[in-house]
Amino acid sequence: MRVDLLLGLQWGDEGKGKIVDVLTKDYDIIARFQGGPNAGHTLEFDGIKHVLHTIPSGIFHENATNVVGNGVVIDPVIFQKELQQLGRFDIDFRKSLLISRKAHLILPTHRLLDAASEAAKGKAKIGSTLKGIGPAYMDKTGRNGLRVGDLELPDWKAKYRSLADKHQAMIDFYNVDIQYDLKELEADFFKAIERLQDLAFIDSEEYLYQALKSGKKILAEGAQGSLLDIDFGTYPFVTSSNTTAAGACTGLGIAPGSIQEVFGIFKAYTTRVGSGPFPTELFDEDGETMGRVGNEFGATTGRPRRCGWLDLVALKYAVRINGVTRLMMMKADVLSGFETIKVCTAYHYQGKQISHLPYSIEAHYLTPVYREMAGWKEDLTGMTKASELPKELRAYISFLEEELEVPISIVSVGPDRTQTIHR
Ligand code: GDP
Ligand code: IMO
Ligand code: MG
Repeated sequence: MRVDLLLGLQWGDEGKGKIVDVLTKDYDIIARFQGGPNAGHTLEFDGIKHVLHTIPSGIFHENATNVVGNGVVIDPVIFQKELQQLGRFDIDFRKSLLISRKAHLILPTHRLLDAASEAAKGKAKIGSTLKGIGPAYMDKTGRNGLRVGDLELPDWKAKYRSLADKHQAMIDFYNVDIQYDLKELEADFFKAIERLQDLAFIDSEEYLYQALKSGKKILAEGAQGSLLDIDFGTYPFVTSSNTTAAGACTGLGIAPGSIQEVFGIFKAYTTRVGSGPFPTELFDEDGETMGRVGNEFGATTGRPRRCGWLDLVALKYAVRINGVTRLMMMKADVLSGFETIKVCTAYHYQGKQISHLPYSIEAHYLTPVYREMAGWKEDLTGMTKASELPKELRAYISFLEEELEVPISIVSVGPDRTQTIHR
């Protein structure tokens, strides 16, 4: 019985898509367990760059079946576009892409509600991706949601209507200026539902149970990152699902005891897109360099990502919450050329130095304490072996391993599948 998890340890965009693609050859099933089209997971191979939003990142491999789990929220319109973009790859979706009947649907009015809620918040907005994630999960926990399995029942359109009507009244209540043509949005939605209905809907918890029983190996692919977790992230500037390890159990219906490895993935520095606290954020040339060299623009929204040094306090927190057994360091190549590398090892907080994540990490409560380490000049992007890595980077890696008490088993030195060093 074996399930491994792959989770982002920061504020998302750590490189999950790339690593899931690298690891897929060793698994039979790749399963997404939470989030929705707020995610943007990038893969690069054979000179092709591809961004996935809802579809698991194992889709390019014939050996694996991809499952969209019950914990995911699906926007049929975006899903259909994703399928279209994959059209040139000759993938048999009915075989390789299975959808949980218990996954919830994002309605056009969920997207509108997301926009209305953000507009009403003004400066205090979350900086959501405006994909309707928050409102869709609100309907799920509020026990009003429309699920994929409903599409197989005769009365789903009536259910849809009453939910959409309620949403419209809520949008009016927000009293903000958002323009929309619901008729047009609904026409797109119903067309996209038809395309979705071409795919196989499954009782995913039963499917996964039987798969495990027959010795199949599952990799659960996280979306977002631990610091965006609804419970353990920087609330309220978070997403609306459990992005941490426990989310894989509820989002797939797998038992905790079947989980073996928990792969924690992090960038060699830190980025964040959207609003919310970010203690090590840089507003200087160094931050600008990270953004430029790392090409730090959101894969879903195109927004520039905020950049800063690695926050070891936050990373330790994420490692512990998830029970990470192996670490993967991404984008090490982006730090080439920095004279010194800084790592935040503690915070000055209310007159004291602390090394744990306090309740609030808003900038006015704390300042980061940095340790400086020597940087390196070498271009890493052509390196293939750990022994080739510059000694300064190896010292950085050893320091992190010591502090985090978990081995770093992959160092990524470029966006391509092949630019991956196993240690
Ligand atoms: P995800 O959401 O965690 O899958 O990550 P994203 O795809 O949103 O963002 C990661 C970005 O970094 C993508 O553009 C990747 O192609 C790119 N990337 C991944 N690994 C590396 C790496 O090691 N070096 C560089 N330079 N880019 C990388
Ligand atoms: P991947 O899977 C980075 C951020 C948004 C916003 C907050 C809430 O690619 O790592 P939401 O739309 O979920 O209501 O937005 O969460 N966010 C992400 N940031 N990567 C993501 O996904 C994200 N998904 C949501 O920017 O701050
Ligand atoms: Mg992303």
